[in-house]
Amino acid sequence: MAATKTYLTGIQTSGMPHIGNYIGAIKPALAAAREHDTLYFLADYHSLNSVKEPEKLRSDIRSVAATWLACGLDPERTILYRQSSVPEVFELATILATITAKGLMNRAHAYKAARDRNEAAGVADLDAGVNMGLFNYPILMAADILIMEADYVPVGRDQVQHIEYTADIAGSFNHLYGDSYSFPIPKGVFPEGEASVLPGVDGRKMSKSYDNHIPLFLPENKLKKLVRRIPTDSTPVEAPKDPDTSVPFQLLAQFATEEHTAATRKRLEAGGMGWGDLKNELFEVLNTTFGPMRERYEELIAPDSDLDDILEAGAARARERAKATVAKVRAAVGID
Ligand code: ADP
Ligand code: TRP
Repeated sequence: MAATKTYLTGIQTSGMPHIGNYIGAIKPALAAAREHDTLYFLADYHSLNSVKEPEKLRSDIRSVAATWLACGLDPERTILYRQSSVPEVFELATILATITAKGLMNRAHAYKAARDRNEAAGVADLDAGVNMGLFNYPILMAADILIMEADYVPVGRDQVQHIEYTADIAGSFNHLYGDSYSFPIPKGVFPEGEASVLPGVDGRKMSKSYDNHIPLFLPENKLKKLVRRIPTDSTPVEAPKDPDTSVPFQLLAQFATEEHTAATRKRLEAGGMGWGDLKNELFEVLNTTFGPMRERYEELIAPDSDLDDILEAGAARARERAKATVAKVRAAVGID
């Protein structure tokens, strides 16, 4: 019998997730949790690089945790925890830094992008505005993954390099200390194809950074307004329309049943269905899909909910594993 494989992923705590995150990350991760050993954590120390307002960070942490639980994460099955609750991660990051070439970090995409922005803006010091948290980001991420001895890391394609770096760093460690202890070399699991990349309300990829996203748990009236604001052309109601170039249709197709989607496609192609009708349908489908989860979300973010207990229980389980790994690593390097 094959040994159980460990799946681990980290989620930055920077604002309420949107329906693109749901389709691209949350839903597949919850499906994986039904079959595998899973650890999902809130990368709150990673978020500290960008979120510098303590109140916002505090509320984002709760919001992201509540989102996962409201979407169906079973905390008995999946270990859900805050990165910051597992201090062994930072100990391992320090050890990994001692075997990581600075040149590797120099080539990291996020760091290079920051330098490119300075260059384009004519700033003489290309490192201006770059803090060490950003520079060290890939090492901390490697520690997150290796400390749980993860085999698979489901992430978006933008994270490919981070996973390669983690595998590289694990390889260096194993080469040096492998007689005593070796990390499993983790593999990335990436979403297939473009089909699951949701467009935002302006037609570009939905992303918090483009401010074109539909947050998961908007109050009903706000959700309705946002859906109505999706730009559409001025094709008259009677005219036939192309569903495949329509943002509201593409969004509908992700959440409606196959029959519903096919029927709506027909109505658009035949003419007689206006963009307004389509947006009403989209609103209804989103509201039906996320309404019950929104209720659970509201309960969970309340100050006296069981959210903190769930995170604490997750942290205790995660720490047990982290401590075991760090003990082996310390012994391997000679600090025991
Ligand atoms: P954002 O671009 O809004 O900041 P992140 O980069 O934090 O989102 O992505 C978190 C997760 O959600 C990743 O796994 C990513 O692949 C997925 N994701 C983000 N945007 C979309 C989208 N528009 N469609 C599908 N999946 C997405
Ligand atoms: N860098 C990831 C992102 O921006 C978040 C993250 C931090 C992560 N540590 C991780 C993802 C470990 C997977 C495994 O989305």
